Amino acid sequence: MIARRNGTIGAAAALLVLAGIFSANVAAQDTKSTWDGIFTAEQAERGEATYNQECAQCHLEDLLGDGIAPSLIGAPFHFRWSELSVGDMLVAIRTTMPQGAPASLSPRAYVDIVAYMLSRNDFPAGDMELPTDQDVLESIIIQEDAP
Ligand code: HEC
Repeated sequence: MIARRNGTIGAAAALLVLAGIFSANVAAQDTKSTWDGIFTAEQAERGEATYNQECAQCHLEDLLGDGIAPSLIGAPFHFRWSELSVGDMLVAIRTTMPQGAPASLSPRAYVDIVAYMLSRNDFPAGDMELPTDQDVLESIIIQEDAP
């Protein structure tokens, strides 16, 4: 009886330790932002090529939009996306764009375009490519001001 009780307590303690590790990981992920070098310069260049092919006829090569298609840089970008995650932005783009043919590009083409949009909004490139993994994308917050 006593041994069984101890076993339960031991298991509960182990669970608490695991829960602590898990929440520490979540907290560490939550602190990532678009200022942390979350895409590479090469990826943004690939994204630029795809953007010019698939998006520029409406949003234009300078990303300022044509008056109907909105600007994807500067104040309009931050008004729409600041404090949301890169994952939120990616899903919104994939499910609606290119207008008339949503979700028609490969997962990698979409993240490359997002990398290009971030670079054109003056976020810094880094050593790691932006992945297609939605959980990772949702852990990166778009922040207007540098920390
Ligand atoms: C045929 C014209 C056209 C093409 C091509 C096009 N867009 Fe758009 N886009 C629009 C219009 C019009 C809107 C505004 C209406 C809307 O949100 O559906 C828009 C809206 C958007 C928005 C804002 C969405 C939101 O939720 O606020 C983003 C971001 C965007 N486009 C990105 C892209 C990207 C990236 C591509 C290329 C993969 C692309 N667009 C291709 C016309 C276009």
